Amino acid sequence: MTEVNNVELEARLENRERFEPPESFVEQANIVDDAIYDEFEGNWPDCWKRAADLLDWETEYETILDDSNPPFFEWFTGGSLNASANCLDRHLEDRGDEAAIEWVGEPADEDNRTYTYNDLHREVNEFAAALRDLGVGEDDIVTLYMPMVPELPIAMLACARIGAPHSVVFAGFSADALATRMNAADSEYLVTCDGYYRRGDALEHKAKTDEGLGGVDHDVRTVVVDRLGDEYDHPMASGEFDYDDLVAEQAGTKVEPVQRDAEDMLFLMYTSGTTGEPKGVKHTTGGFLSWASWTSQAVLDIKPEDTYWCSADIGWITGHSYIVYGPLALGTTSVMYEGTPDHPTRDRLWEIVEEYEVDQLYTAPTAIRAFMKWGSQYPKRHDLSSLRLLGTVGEPINPRAWKWYYTHIGNENCPIVDTWWQTETGGMMLTTLPGVKDAKPGSAGPPLPGIDIRVVDTRGNEVEPGKAGYLTVNKPWPGMLRTLYNNDDRFISEYWAEYSDTESDDPDDWVYFPEDGAKIDEDGYITVLGRVDDVINVSGHRLGTMEIESAIVGVEGVAEAAVVGGNHELKGEAVYAYVITEEEFDGGEELRSRIVEGVEDAIGPIARPEEIVFTPELPKTRSGKIMRRLLEDIANGEELGDTSTLRNPDVVRDIEATVGDD
Ligand code: WTA
Repeated sequence: MTEVNNVELEARLENRERFEPPESFVEQANIVDDAIYDEFEGNWPDCWKRAADLLDWETEYETILDDSNPPFFEWFTGGSLNASANCLDRHLEDRGDEAAIEWVGEPADEDNRTYTYNDLHREVNEFAAALRDLGVGEDDIVTLYMPMVPELPIAMLACARIGAPHSVVFAGFSADALATRMNAADSEYLVTCDGYYRRGDALEHKAKTDEGLGGVDHDVRTVVVDRLGDEYDHPMASGEFDYDDLVAEQAGTKVEPVQRDAEDMLFLMYTSGTTGEPKGVKHTTGGFLSWASWTSQAVLDIKPEDTYWCSADIGWITGHSYIVYGPLALGTTSVMYEGTPDHPTRDRLWEIVEEYEVDQLYTAPTAIRAFMKWGSQYPKRHDLSSLRLLGTVGEPINPRAWKWYYTHIGNENCPIVDTWWQTETGGMMLTTLPGVKDAKPGSAGPPLPGIDIRVVDTRGNEVEPGKAGYLTVNKPWPGMLRTLYNNDDRFISEYWAEYSDTESDDPDDWVYFPEDGAKIDEDGYITVLGRVDDVINVSGHRLGTMEIESAIVGVEGVAEAAVVGGNHELKGEAVYAYVITEEEFDGGEELRSRIVEGVEDAIGPIARPEEIVFTPELPKTRSGKIMRRLLEDIANGEELGDTSTLRNPDVVRDIEATVGDD
């Protein structure tokens, strides 16, 4: 790209200019008519038939939306279907020999695996039969504690086939985190693996699993996938089964897909909230699958003949919706990569894009910031001309990173969709339809058609354009969470805005509160500002400050702790921990490393504090609440605002001095 061009682009970004969809994209886009916004609004909720129609239903639904018992909204009531049949069986006739999953292992000399729809169908059936033989029945929750190996989506679809909801626990989470989730879900079945590769090293996973199982308060039957072969020997205990043996025993077995009610649970996904207890977000078969499929088609522009790649981990919601369910329901080829982007070299992703001729790439701003830092020489080494659309998710993307992505990856020829959504929403909510709307770097965009999102003040009144407020979703949508597992009360108190009339059975009185701050522009584009609760977003991973605090307080010698998110160049936010030690303990290196260990044991390395600041006191209000905002300002080295309401104003100077010392 020439110098002149670059200056022009800078100016366009400076002016918050919009970027029109490239003509070549519009010519082939799944959605090209702006009228869809009015059409959906005028025809709401019947417009959602369009999402449901992307699926094959065994029994047609009777009602699109049942809103008689808000906020327990139900979608496609009376319908029945099976998610694995929708992701596999229905594609066999036309696309049986086409790739469903292109799996790329991390080692450069790996025998990468291609699963055609026929292959995937066969193995999902065999594993579904094996799970049944192990005793898994309809509605039994199966925990999947697995890294990015093909057996993970296979296990998910096998569970879906027999109507057993899965609960995937991110492989990077600790043994304790596994135990907490298995206990909370009363899950008696677990699929795990021996280990996996990370930056060239074989990491063990089985010993961590065993440790986690030690904390589970009921019997568990465990299946172990052998990823590492001879590299890592894992002893098998009784009640444990080898995945390959189970599948081999079932060679050729077919399992009739269980017809699930549209509202039956497809999966649970534990995510972080304000309190220390993770929340079991419940997603349903009809609503979630239609939502993942519809947004994959409308926003990611997926067509069956595409090779599409979402570089997230299936251990998070993004991988559920946009590596597994959405793309496979549409019959496309979904790429799945085991490892990190810098192994063996920093052009690994670009090498994969080139080799597989990837059409769409969906990744996270934190990754883009790392690519920027590494430099454009890495993507330059590869032919990326197969790309036609780029996407981001997980956190706001700043215009500079947007520009880098647009220029160096998209060659100024691909629309970028900045997609705002959450574990709870099941799929995308706020983003541009790439063949219809211009992109405005830094703003996720307007709500998708049929989605009613507003930016409001604490009373629920819409704020003026340009002013910060809270994001709310004012109408239900098919992909929404239905409740928190076994905890309807918490579901209501966590998500339905305080001004919602919780006594009312008028659905309009109920407003969903995602806990994000935002501002809206005159043109209706929304810029998401970040969480307004005690959740921090580290490299796009959602972590609860309370979970981290309770891990730190559990370390011997710690009296009190407060955790906040501080700005971080690559991670977006990083964990800052302020710690008061017990009297007889010193805040030194030894305690510091025990704190890090404590956090890694309780949650996982992703939650490791970036900074640990030992302090004699924490800034508190007169009523005794920790002033997190102040601690955030200290972490970010910002000017401190009004400290007059503080009970102990001097402490702020003390902490500042300590941070300065580091
Ligand atoms: C944040 C990930 C700005 C937001 C899919 C949300 C974003 C939280 C964006 C959900 C975006 C996600 N722009 N912020 N495009 N996408 N977020 O549940 O704070 O892991 O509430 O779901 O990530 O994180 P979760």
